[in-house]
This record gives sequence, structure tokens and C-alpha cells, in this order.
Amino acid sequence: MRHFLEIDDLTPAELSEVLDQASADSPPQVLAGKGAALIFEKPSLRTRNATEMAVVQLGGHPIYLGDDEVGIDKRETADDVIRVLAGYHAVVAARVFDHNVLERMAARNVVPVVNLLSEEAHPMQALADLLTLKDEFGGLDGLVVTYVGDANNVWRSLALGCAMVGVVSRVVCPPGYAPNPEDVDRIRGLGGEVEVFDRPELAIDGADAVYTDVWTSMGQEEESAVRLRAFEGFSVTADLLSAMSPSGIFLHCLPAHRGEEVSDDAIESSSSRVFVQAANRMHSARGLLAWLLTQQP
Ligand code: CP
Ligand code: NVA
Repeated sequence: MRHFLEIDDLTPAELSEVLDQASADSPPQVLAGKGAALIFEKPSLRTRNATEMAVVQLGGHPIYLGDDEVGIDKRETADDVIRVLAGYHAVVAARVFDHNVLERMAARNVVPVVNLLSEEAHPMQALADLLTLKDEFGGLDGLVVTYVGDANNVWRSLALGCAMVGVVSRVVCPPGYAPNPEDVDRIRGLGGEVEVFDRPELAIDGADAVYTDVWTSMGQEEESAVRLRAFEGFSVTADLLSAMSPSGIFLHCLPAHRGEEVSDDAIESSSSRVFVQAANRMHSARGLLAWLLTQQP
């Protein structure tokens, strides 16, 4: 049975199939008469709405489950939750604090499991990011994407995805927040080119896209004051964006904290594609689910 916990759970050929499915007219009704359970241990605007609507477009019925209702490993074990939900649903997707919960649910192999964000990975976001780049530039191979900020869940899935489609990835972080060597090895193991910088203006020079995310992710709130100080000088501003390629675009997974990781003049600039990117969350979620639900168990 196939699961989607990180973007490299797909082969490069499958990733390209998913992106094609995302742009296909007339969504296949692979969920007709079927349910999709969507569990959220953390808040969401885009992921919940995009995934619910993708399920509807595939003919299915989404059921949102908040943390208070499910209480994975609190009210009952992840092992029991997944076996119960498999009795009602064709797919179970979850946003969790601990990636291991997803791994344990997938290990049961009773229903396909999809990661809607964990502290390690945000592969559904990376699909939308790649779709946005593909639509904008008409292809992906050879593009250069610079990620500015925290080498977090969003960065990891994006960088792995870039490696799978021939996009060169650059990353620039303050000391202490750079990618760990295992991540760099994993990206290179996929044949990807990744360059680590410590000065934003050098990393952005000539890039086709500049991407950033919040400095404090959900679950890290108690580190927020320390992080605010550590990331000083790493805000993406319109001035910084002027070093991109003339056709370069600005991306952000959102929610954005204007005045922190991004300035108002950058996110509102003519090169910003953040709302196209947000809309693409629905199209790429539909592409992924359409693909996943036609895989042999
Ligand atoms: N980008 C993203 O995952 O947004 P939400 O947290 O609102 O789902
Ligand atoms: N890195 C952020 C992404 C939010 C969509 C977080 O995990 O909170």
C-alpha cells in the first residue's frame, strides 16, 4: 500500500504524474461514494480548505477531525485510530506534532496515509510549490530556487522535491538554523544540487524564485523570542528581491508574518505569486489524491 509522508515517497516519474494530474481537466471520480478523514492536531487555513475541496472534486466526502475529537495517543492510540478510520474511509490524512505518529499509522497498512504537515515535512505544500514554478516558467529543470530562513519542514520537502525535478536549491540561514548534514546528503542522494549560504544577498543573486517561511513554526512558540533575534537580517524585502533574475518570483507557503520573515513591499510586489501558490494547494492535493487512490494496494 502506498502512503505519502514525504515527497520522496514518490519516484521522480510519479511526482511528474501527480503534477500532470493536478492540471488535468475533469478530475477522475476516484472517491465517489467514499470518505476521506482529515485529522488536524494544529490549526490550518489552506491545507484544510484545499484538501476538503480536492476530496469533493474527486467525488468524495471529507470529514474534518480536530485534535479534541481524536486525541491521538491521548484518547486512544494511533494504532487504534487508524484501524477504526480504515473502516470508513478510502484515505486518512493528518497534520501532527510528531512525524512518528504518521509513520506508525502508515505501518499498519490498512488505508493510505497522507502527511498534511509534521514537524519534519510538508510534502503537500511542496507539490503546490513545484506546480506554481512549473506553471510560471513552463518547466522545472534547471531553475534556481533560493530558500531564506529556517531550514524547517517546508524547506526540507521543497528541497527534496526540487532535487527530484532538476531544480537547483539554495538555502540561506543564520548560524544554528542551517540544514543538518543528513538532509543535505538526502537531497544529494536524489541527484539534487543544493548550495548552503550564510548571506541572503549572495544566495538570491540571479535566482528564479525566492521562498521564505515563518521563523517560528507551530509547536516552537516558546522559542519565538530567541528566534526573532537569531533571524535578524534574514527578512525578505523588495530591496533583496531586486537581486533575483528579472523574471524571478517570490513564494511563501503562508501564513506570513509581515515585518518578520517578509516585508509588506516584498509580499505585495509584482513578483509575488503567493496567492496563486495558495490556490495551487487545492489543485496539487487533487492531483496527489487522484494518483494515490489509483495505486494498487
Ligand atoms: N501553508 C499551509 O500549510 O497553510 P495552513 O497552515 O493554513 O494549512
Ligand atoms: N513551518 C510552518 C509552516 C506552516 C504552514 C509550521 O510548521 O508552522
